[in-house]
Amino acid sequence: MTNSKYIPEEEIQRQMTLCDALYKEIHPRHLTFFVETFGCQMNVRDSETIKGILFRAGYSESESKETADLILFNTCCVRDHAEKRLMGNIGALREQKEANPALIVGICGCMMQQEGMAKKILKRFPHVSLVFGTNVVFRLPQMLAAVLGGERVALTNEEDFAIAEGLPQLRDNVRSAFVNITFGCNNYCTYCIVPFVRGRERSRSMADIRTEVEALCANGITEITLLGQNVNSYANDLEEGSFAELLTLLNDVSNLKRLRFMSSHPKDLNDDVIMAIASNSHVCHHVHLPVQSGNDTILKRMNRKYTRAQYLEIIRKLRAAVPDIEFTTDIIVGFPGETEEMFRDTLSLVEEVGFAAAFTFAYSPRVGTAAAAMHDQVPEEVKKRRLQELNALQVRKTVENNAKYIGYEGEVLIEGCDVRTDETLLYGKYPNIKMVYFPGNPDRVNTYAKVRVLRPSKNSLIGEEIDG
Ligand code: SAH
Ligand code: SF4
Ligand code: F3S
Repeated sequence: MTNSKYIPEEEIQRQMTLCDALYKEIHPRHLTFFVETFGCQMNVRDSETIKGILFRAGYSESESKETADLILFNTCCVRDHAEKRLMGNIGALREQKEANPALIVGICGCMMQQEGMAKKILKRFPHVSLVFGTNVVFRLPQMLAAVLGGERVALTNEEDFAIAEGLPQLRDNVRSAFVNITFGCNNYCTYCIVPFVRGRERSRSMADIRTEVEALCANGITEITLLGQNVNSYANDLEEGSFAELLTLLNDVSNLKRLRFMSSHPKDLNDDVIMAIASNSHVCHHVHLPVQSGNDTILKRMNRKYTRAQYLEIIRKLRAAVPDIEFTTDIIVGFPGETEEMFRDTLSLVEEVGFAAAFTFAYSPRVGTAAAAMHDQVPEEVKKRRLQELNALQVRKTVENNAKYIGYEGEVLIEGCDVRTDETLLYGKYPNIKMVYFPGNPDRVNTYAKVRVLRPSKNSLIGEEIDG
C-alpha cells in the first residue's frame, strides 16, 4: 500500500540476467574494480550497490587503483572544491589508460546530475567511457555490456524517479550497515544542490526496510544506521507509516543492538519521534540535528522552516525525555546576508546547546540554487575567519562536554585499535556517539565491551573495561 513508484521487477530481472551473461565473460579473465567514493553516506551506500552489481557481473575488488581494470569515481557536488579535484583525479588516469587500453574509467554520482556535466566529462576526457547519475545505478549491467562492446555511455536520471529494490550489495563492514529509508529531498534549502541531483523525496516501504534489516542482522550485523536526507519526513509519500513507527517496528529485530539514523530535520522532528527514541531500547541516544544557523533571518532565507527558539525547544524536550542524549550538527557560516551580529547568534547557539561535534562549512554557492543568486554574498576571507572562530568555540565545547563523562559507564562497540602507536589501545563508541579509548586485545574489534570513563582527552575519552 504505497504511492512510491518502483522500477518494475521484470526490469531488475532483465538487468540481473545481463549481469549473469557478463559473468561468463568477465570472471574467467580475473578482472577487478576499484570504486572511490566521495561525499556523504548516500554515496557510500550507492557504492555498495554498485560494487554488488560489479561483483555479480564477475569482477572482484582490486586492492589498489593502479592494478584495477575498472575504476569508478562516485562523486559529490555539495560544495564547490569537488569539481576541480575530480578533474585532476580523472586526468591522472590518462597514463594508466595508455598503458592498459582495456581499462574502463567511469564517473558516477551526484556531480554527474549537474546540468551539462556528463557531456562535458565525455568531451574533455576521451579515456572516460562510462558516466551515470544517481538513480540509474540499476542499469549498470546494461551500461557495462555496452562499454565492454566498445561504446561510450552517458546515462543520467530519468524524469520519473523510482525506487529499485532487490539489487545485489557488497558491504565491507561486518558490524554496521547503512540502510536507505528515503531517497531524494523535497526541502529545497536555498543553499543546497541535493534536491536537484537526487530528485524528489520517496520512501521505501516499511516491509522492505524491515526485510533488509532482518537479513543484515541474521548475517552478523548488530548496528544499523537508517539513511535519508530528512529521516523525519519518512512515509510522507506513503499511505501509512511514519518515522516513529518505523523505529518501533525495527527495534525488536533479532540480533539488532543499535539503531541509528541520519539526518534529522528540525522542522519534522515531532513528539512521536521523541517518544520513539525514548521508549525503544535499541534506538541510540544520539541525534544528528543540523541547525545551519542560530539566526532567524538567516534560517528564513535558508528556507529551513524553523526558528532558533523552536530548535532549542526540540533540544530541551529530547534532553528531558532522554537524559544522556548527545547532539551533533551541521553549520554553515557566511550564508548570503549574514552580518557579524547574525554570525554571533550562531556562536551563542553553539555555546548554549553544547554539541558533541559540529560539522562546519563555509557557504559555497551552487549554480541553480536560490542562494547562489542572492546579491549580498559574503567575502571569502570573512567566511574563513568566521569558520575558524566557530571551530575554536566547538573545540572548547567538546573539551567541556568530555569533562562531564568521568565515571560514566556503558556498552561500547569496539570499532578498531590504534594500529600506528599501540595495538592494544582499542576504541569504540557508546550508543550516544561518544568515543572512548581503552586497553584491550585487538582481536576484540567488532565486539562489545562495558567501559568506564577514567578521564577526558581533547577529542575523546579514556577508559577501562569493566566486568571482564
Ligand atoms: N540532508 C542533510 C544534509 C545534506 S548536505 C540535512 O539536511 O541535514 C550536508 C551538509 O552540507 C548540510 O547540512 C550543510 O550544512 C552543508 N551544505 C549543504 N550545501 C552547502 C553549501 N552550498 N555550502 C556549504 N555547506 C553546504
Ligand atoms: Fe539539502 Fe536541505 Fe534537503 Fe538537507 S534538507 S538535503 S540541506 S535541501
Ligand atoms: Fe551526498 Fe554530496 Fe550527493 S553530500 S547527496 S554525495 S551531493
